[in-house]
Amino acid sequence: MNIEKYPVLVVDDEESIRRLLEKELAGTNREIVKAADASEAIDKVRGRSFDVIIMDLRLPDTSDLDLLIKVRDASPCTEVIMITGHGDIDTAVEAMKLGAYDFIAKPFNLDRLDLLVEKAHQRSRLSVENRLLRHSASYDQGPVKFIGNSKAVRDIQFLINKVAPADIPVLITGESGAGKDVVANAIHNRSTRAGNPMIIKNCASLQKELARSELFGHVKGSFTGAGESQEGLVSYAHQGTLFLDEIGELSLDVQASLLRLLETQTYRRVGEKEERRVNIRFLFATNRNLGEEVKTGRFNEAFYHRINVFNIAIPSLKERKEDLPLLVDFFLTKLSPEGTTYRMVQGAMDCVLDYDWPGNVRELRNVIERSIILGENGIITKRCLPHELVVEAERSEASITLESVEKKHIFKMLDFHNGNRRKTADALGISRKTLYRKMTHYQSQ
Ligand SMILES: Nc1ncnc2c1ncn2[C@@H]1O[C@H](COP(=O)(O)OP(=O)(O)OP(=O)(O)O)[C@@H](O)[C@H]1O
Ligand SMILES: [Mg+2]
Repeated sequence: MNIEKYPVLVVDDEESIRRLLEKELAGTNREIVKAADASEAIDKVRGRSFDVIIMDLRLPDTSDLDLLIKVRDASPCTEVIMITGHGDIDTAVEAMKLGAYDFIAKPFNLDRLDLLVEKAHQRSRLSVENRLLRHSASYDQGPVKFIGNSKAVRDIQFLINKVAPADIPVLITGESGAGKDVVANAIHNRSTRAGNPMIIKNCASLQKELARSELFGHVKGSFTGAGESQEGLVSYAHQGTLFLDEIGELSLDVQASLLRLLETQTYRRVGEKEERRVNIRFLFATNRNLGEEVKTGRFNEAFYHRINVFNIAIPSLKERKEDLPLLVDFFLTKLSPEGTTYRMVQGAMDCVLDYDWPGNVRELRNVIERSIILGENGIITKRCLPHELVVEAERSEASITLESVEKKHIFKMLDFHNGNRRKTADALGISRKTLYRKMTHYQSQ
């Protein structure tokens, strides 16, 4: 976990109050930032995100509640505590209606204020988490560990462990269902940002006209249909990781804006001149060949080089069939109903091993899920597997020739008799001469 201090902004025109609050509220988990008026406060809010703001109801350079409205608009997850004076009760009630968290009257009860700040902070964190949750609900977060024991997977595990703590961007490539999301999750979870959010966005789901606004946010009225001002995903990923999936789907102009963000860690909301600074680790994934897309002009070359600093390429499942037994076990354990663990009989496992898995690990997972439903007494037989798997296995069995069986058997027997030809020939019921002839024939193949 990241035990970073959370910043609290104190806005008051009286210096003595600013100093008092700083002295009383700053602590091991809090940092106090001060602003003397509304315009300074707005500047500070633009620069970084605050969980809690304590503000004087009356500020010299703005009308009552105007700052509150602006802050809530710019940063909906920030909780605001109003400082009220004598006779401000009506306005304070108005402030609560506008979304202020609570108010506290002067002179302060500092213990109560301390408690209020803590509670406001918790609420702010909760609403950030809720937003994140809503955002990520449609994603299968998947296991953190990338299962497999093939050489390819061991290399991938090694790369994940090496690259996770470094803050550099990673491009994850591989066919659909090969495990790109799993790798991205594993990198984030092993990184120093693991306690902070990982925002996942599938670029294929970005609407063309709204892509920029969804990523960077916009200000009210900045384009037709732009309602209330909104923060973009980039701001939610601050101090965490932004995982952009299917990056090949992104339009060229948005690629250019992202390139800027990658290079400078700054961005602008749509319709706004001010630059905002963030601190984000980037992960990208694609099943396209971006190098080719660059050649045909569909992908920005500079952006490509920038995101392709470190590539993790996941081979398709058919190129690493050694992983199948382990993956089958993993899914059987994970997906079996509580209290049982299903087992797969060898005949069924042979079918799994013979099949080509065009849908990669996702297809395997689906097949196991289905076979558990069809299996009886905790046992999965060939009958529980989809038709195409069994057909494939029978087809490859049918293509076995008599010659290949004979060859295999002869060498097995030779091995058994430690290469002794006489014993081997006797066991096979053929002459030594015939054995020798067959051996030279098969060895030349
Ligand atoms: N090595 C692995 N270990 C454990 N589970 C895996 C592994 N690879 C893939 N999976 C599982 O297989 C499914 C598909 O994986 P994932 O979503 O990561 O694929 P993807 O490459 O991102 O596919 P797409 O291109 O369609 O987004 C998920 O349920 C995931 O948890
Ligand atoms: Mg994916």
